[in-house]
Amino acid sequence: MVVVRRAGERDFPDLLAVQREAFAEYLNVYEASAWTRERLEDITLDASDKVILVAESEGRIVGSVRFWLVAGVCVIRLLSVKPSHQGRGYAKALMKKVEELATEAHKFYVCTMLRTPRNIGLFLSLGYRPESLLPNHYHKLDLICFAKYCHPGPVGPHQ
Ligand SMILES: CC(C)(COP(=O)(O)OP(=O)(O)OC[C@H]1O[C@@H](n2cnc3c(N)ncnc32)[C@H](O)[C@@H]1OP(=O)(O)O)[C@@H](O)C(=O)NCCC(=O)NCCS
Repeated sequence: MVVVRRAGERDFPDLLAVQREAFAEYLNVYEASAWTRERLEDITLDASDKVILVAESEGRIVGSVRFWLVAGVCVIRLLSVKPSHQGRGYAKALMKKVEELATEAHKFYVCTMLRTPRNIGLFLSLGYRPESLLPNHYHKLDLICFAKYCHPGPVGPHQ
């Protein structure tokens, strides 16, 4: 059974190790150092205004994600699962928990690298739809951003 819970400070070293291992797959393809070199002090600071979740397998951390709310938009970042545990539903479970906890959100928002069919497949399968492309964005990466609305369709000025 997949257990997803809020992370505490004592989880940060293991969480960072999983994140480092997961994002290491991009080391020769993308500028991934921001994700693989995050330090304890960075995540501790991040935790002051974001919710950090971890997924556990047999009591050990195997995945994590972070989110925060900006005026009803739930921004989701740094979803990662330990390579040895990928393909078993941990990322899906983490994403579902985010949606469950962010009760104030009218919209969920997540970006990923444009040329990652697996990640794109994951977000599509969870009901997220592509919303924008951000060429040459963070670390000069091309990003694709997805959104999922709690109530179907964005509310425009004529609706
Ligand atoms: C992306 C990542 C978090 C997925 O974690 P995971 O636990 O393996 O994902 P899950 O098992 O929950 O979800 C698998 C879903 O992803 C999609 N998927 C998985 N592998 C895929 C592939 N090779 N091609 C297309 N879609 C794929 C499918 O929709 C699949 O759902 P299904 O099994 O019901 O068909 C993990 O691979 C990872 O940590 N990657 C490195 C870091 C990263 O890129 N993070 C995303 C930043 S936004």
